Amino acid sequence: MAIPVIIDCDPGIDDVMALLLAFVRPELDVRLITTEAGNQTQDKTSFNARGFADLMKQKIEVARGLEQPLMRTLEVAGHVHGDTGLGSLTLDEPVTKESRRSAIDALRETILESPEETVLVATGPLTNIGALFLAHPEVKAHIRYISFMGGAAVGGNVTPTAEFNVYTDPEAADLVFRSGVPIVMSGLDVTHKAYMTEQDLQAIEAIGTPLAREIIAMLKFYGKAAQQTPFHEPHFADVIRLHDLCAVAYAIKPELFAGMDCHVEIETEGRLTSGTTVVDYTNRTKKPANAHVLHSVDREAFVRLFTDAVREAGG
Ligand code: BDR
Ligand code: CA
Repeated sequence: MAIPVIIDCDPGIDDVMALLLAFVRPELDVRLITTEAGNQTQDKTSFNARGFADLMKQKIEVARGLEQPLMRTLEVAGHVHGDTGLGSLTLDEPVTKESRRSAIDALRETILESPEETVLVATGPLTNIGALFLAHPEVKAHIRYISFMGGAAVGGNVTPTAEFNVYTDPEAADLVFRSGVPIVMSGLDVTHKAYMTEQDLQAIEAIGTPLAREIIAMLKFYGKAAQQTPFHEPHFADVIRLHDLCAVAYAIKPELFAGMDCHVEIETEGRLTSGTTVVDYTNRTKKPANAHVLHSVDREAFVRLFTDAVREAGG
């Protein structure tokens, strides 16, 4: 039976790649999408999620989340994802309308109505999930785990130590990491190894569908903002790192990844380190593990999973 999944996202170019994979794969039953302010404003991420669902011919509820991080001012990532949030992609006014339910109500009801435990895939800041746990802690017992793209044990992409999704809303991340719900953390440690090369892009281009062409154009747009990452493989800026895709790929094929159970705490105050995930790889704190922190991926199988999904999506 397919795994019931809810995707909480802030599309975002790599977020829509993650949505594509989730829509296509039979292992997952995507029951709800909730949108986050993050890569762009709530208006834009909601528009993008609904427009992309239309493009993929999916009938799915898309519920609007919080307008801002819990306690901070939103700093969007237009320099990476463009002014609309989806780079080169132009979407028509979506046929899919925003749900009448708020993200928090839709999350609560969808999780509690499901006879099986739900997997929450989170590819944006954790604002909605943090607020959900504050308002409705009873849902926690019904969540199998949270597959979260965010954080980093070593090296950030906003500050020297903080990754974008945690940096954007550290207080929400703190609530979620202290919630007791199992977390699989796809931080930069693994997502920087989940990259595509020029040759991988050519394999997608060869599919030849209009959708494949749009995917390539978006990925090239996104690739322009790639940073050099001296402690990650490969050490160059000319590859495209598919961060958010890891969180969905893990839910489908966990065997592609390797990780370690660790205690992780979120720095919410640090003078230099606000938004850092402090990953206790060496068990200095002697605190029980609250996350499975991924560090490696079978890159070729991962890229194949995505390429096959683009082919299967047709379009
Ligand atoms: C994360 O930040 C966003 O820009 C991406 O969509 C991804 O979720 C990577 O740090
Ligand atoms: Ca994202």
